[in-house]
Amino acid sequence: MQKRHFLHATALAVLALGATAAVAAEDTFKIGLILPMTGQQASTGRQIEAAARLYMAQNGDTVGGKKVELIVKDDTSIPDVTKRMAQELVVNDKVNVLAGFGITPSALATAPIATQSKTPLVVMAAATSSITQASPYIVRTSFTLPQAAVSMADWAPKNGIKKVVTLVSDYGPGLDAEKFFVERLLFNGGQVTESLRVPMRNPDFAPFLQKVRDLKPDALFVFVPSGAGAAVMKQFLERGMDKAGIRLIGTGDVTDDDQLNDMGDGALGVVTSHHYSTAHPSLVNKKFVEAFQKANKGMRPNFMAVGGYDGMRVIYEALKVTKGQGGGDALLAAMKGQIFESPRGPMFIDAQTRDVVQNIYLRKVQKQDGQLYNVEFDVIKDVKDPGKNK
Ligand code: DHB
Repeated sequence: MQKRHFLHATALAVLALGATAAVAAEDTFKIGLILPMTGQQASTGRQIEAAARLYMAQNGDTVGGKKVELIVKDDTSIPDVTKRMAQELVVNDKVNVLAGFGITPSALATAPIATQSKTPLVVMAAATSSITQASPYIVRTSFTLPQAAVSMADWAPKNGIKKVVTLVSDYGPGLDAEKFFVERLLFNGGQVTESLRVPMRNPDFAPFLQKVRDLKPDALFVFVPSGAGAAVMKQFLERGMDKAGIRLIGTGDVTDDDQLNDMGDGALGVVTSHHYSTAHPSLVNKKFVEAFQKANKGMRPNFMAVGGYDGMRVIYEALKVTKGQGGGDALLAAMKGQIFESPRGPMFIDAQTRDVVQNIYLRKVQKQDGQLYNVEFDVIKDVKDPGKNK
């Protein structure tokens, strides 16, 4: 009798526990943030995680009646790992949204999971144009290489740069940068004497830069992913390319704010085009940079951080509107068309393409208060991804 009673009580307790867990799951909104936290792209993960945590600290973790939970996974920037982690996050953790994606191959590998599970996937870093076409559930808050490269190809020939050699990382974003820069430069009457591609993993820039020195162009146009810029700059200067009269230009990835201040005065005068600079002179950005540095031992936020911060905003606003009802489709619909002032300036998520429309700035490395910054000196407003018209 007593034993039966005990069994009964246990069963009830188990039931009650199950019910609590179910209620808790319903009250929770989970964000699966997959980032490269180790390896070659680790700075991307470090920046985006810090920005996501800052956004949550500033905006609370209760949104639309739900408790927001951030689950961070390190994919080491290996696309198969990214995909497996996304699958586990969707199936086991039942995340409501996938986010992060440090490099293009990771985003592309995960796209089918977003489509199959109808889970919105917010790309905060990767920047190859075609990514948003890989799944109707992908929304992007970073940028696209065509956006940045075309603006540089418009600026260069008007500023004494006619003959250019291009040097890009040999994968999605590099190929986009090369294609759109070259096409537009030729259209503008410029010349491209050579297009060089370096391996994405463990690149050795030395032999390529030697070749560029021999070719003696007016400028070298560079795209390398975030974190690789300092190595390019070092070898560019070591070979005395600047003294040989070759200018360094590129998309802003090469003068990455995460590394710029350590590159030394040799970086002064380098002109790049990009959507975000730590030195962007707006009140919203000043507040962002201040809070980010305060929360991260003085670390300077770069363009990856701003992609993560804005990505969290897009997710939070969509959750506010939907209150977590209606599943992935409702959440996705509420992400489309969002328009707001980012630390980078005005931006919106084009409802048709789910891609970001934003200003692209021309910037020159200058010293301010003893530190190196990408100082904006011109702006091309509301740039849509030129890759979408192809
Ligand atoms: C990508 C990665 C980067 O670090 C970057 O600066 C631009 C693009 C990418 O893989 O898409």
